[in-house]
This record gives sequence, structure tokens and C-alpha cells, in this order.
Amino acid sequence: MTGLLELQGLIKEYERGGRTFNAVNRVSLAVDPGDFISIIGRSGSGKTTLLNMGAGLLRPTAGSVFFAGQDIYDLRDKALSFLRNEKIGYVPQGQSLLSNFTVFDNVCIPWFLFSREGDVEGKAFLLLEKVGISHLAAAYPKELSGGEMRRAAIARSLINDPLLLIADEPTGDLDAQTTAEIMSLFSRIAQEGTAVLIVTHELDTLNYGNRTYSMDAGNLLPYRA
Ligand SMILES: Nc1ncnc2c1ncn2[C@@H]1O[C@H](COP(=O)(O)OP(=O)(O)O)[C@@H](O)[C@H]1O
Ligand SMILES: [Mg+2]
Repeated sequence: MTGLLELQGLIKEYERGGRTFNAVNRVSLAVDPGDFISIIGRSGSGKTTLLNMGAGLLRPTAGSVFFAGQDIYDLRDKALSFLRNEKIGYVPQGQSLLSNFTVFDNVCIPWFLFSREGDVEGKAFLLLEKVGISHLAAAYPKELSGGEMRRAAIARSLINDPLLLIADEPTGDLDAQTTAEIMSLFSRIAQEGTAVLIVTHELDTLNYGNRTYSMDAGNLLPYRA
């Protein structure tokens, strides 16, 4: 047990139309500090289901998720919530900012979910600079482009200095230039020591990351270009 995140034999079984199927089918994967891992695959192949199990959001039907040696689904709800909030940054698929809060306040929210001390304002501002949207701190989500919203969600995911950043199609609906900028940002985050695990599109990944897998009907396979 050496990895930061270890997925062991994960299965998620769903039932639909009276038929059960494995949306994720015995997937194992180890993610270490500094890794930048990309998963590609067709819509419906199980990518989001896999990420959600790895992020502590969805209990597997079978198999285990270890984070720093701890089986996270053995934890009580509150301890799991704290582990997620403290150690795992998560950028969900699609628009995920709270519309009644400014960009700045959105970035600060995970900090305030548990009692903490320190200069969250200064930190939030530095993160907004890092993702290139400090000029939008006072804006509301509806005033942002898709790329700007994604940058804000990435800043939010980093506010508690996670050891692992998980992002689900963070470049899904972005133009080529913005996609390249966001992928470079993830590279930088990985180089700075945070493990990065993302689901992305095939073309986005070729120049980034140190490992790529493809997901096909619930099975995870090493990707060969
Ligand atoms: N809660 C659920 N109940 C039943 N089937 C689901 C549920 N969530 C996802 N699925 C199905 O599981 C499969 C994998 O979904 P998902 O992980 O979202 O795929 P991807 O992210 O690769 O597009 C799809 O066939 C989807 O329809
Ligand atoms: Mg998905």
C-alpha cells in the first residue's frame, strides 16, 4: 500500500430497465504524488462513475478505495466529508459554481465548510491569479465564459491545498486555446506535487500527463495512441 490513491477491484453495479450491468467493472489504479493521469473514453463508458468512487462521493458495489492507506469507505460520514474537503480537490463535470456567490466567495466556500484559521482571502486571491482570473473576483458566475467558470472551479478545488485533484472533463466544452491553457495549468499543479486525475478528450491528453488510460464499457485499459 504505497500509493496516494489506490483503487482496488472497483465495481459499480447499476440496474436499469430490469437489467443489471457493471458501469465500472473491476478497475484497479494507483495514483502517486506528482502523477498526472488522464482517462479518456466514450460517453457512457463509466468515467464519471469511476471518478466519483475515487473521490469518496459514491460507494462502490465491490472493491476498495484507499487514500494514504486508509480505506475511505470504512470511515464514518463526517470523517469522510472532512477527508474529502481537506485532501481531495474535485472539479465536477459541467458548471458547478454557486450562482448567488461571487467568484471570490465560490473559491472560499470549501475553506469555510470546516472550522479553519488563516488568511483565506489572501489565498483565494493568489489562486485566482494562478488560474488567470483575478480580475473577475467580484463577478458572478453568470457573467463568466465557460473557460472562466472552469478556472474558478479549479481555483475552488485548490483552496484547502489538496493532495489530489480530480477533474471530470474540465475542458469538455472549451475551445482549443483555452483547453491548452487549462491542461498546462494541470501540468503545473502536478509538478508542484498535487496528484492530478482527470477525465478528458483524446486529443487533449497527447501532450500532457504521465499516464493515459482509456475506459471502455466499464473496463480501464492502458491507452495506446
Ligand atoms: N445512477 C445511475 N443509475 C443507473 N445507471 C447509471 C447511473 N449513473 C450512471 N449510469 C449509467 O452508467 C454508465 C456509465 O455512466 P457514466 O459513469 O456517467 O459514464 P461517462 O462519464 O463515461 O459518460 C452509463 O450507461 C450510465 O447511463
Ligand atoms: Mg461523465
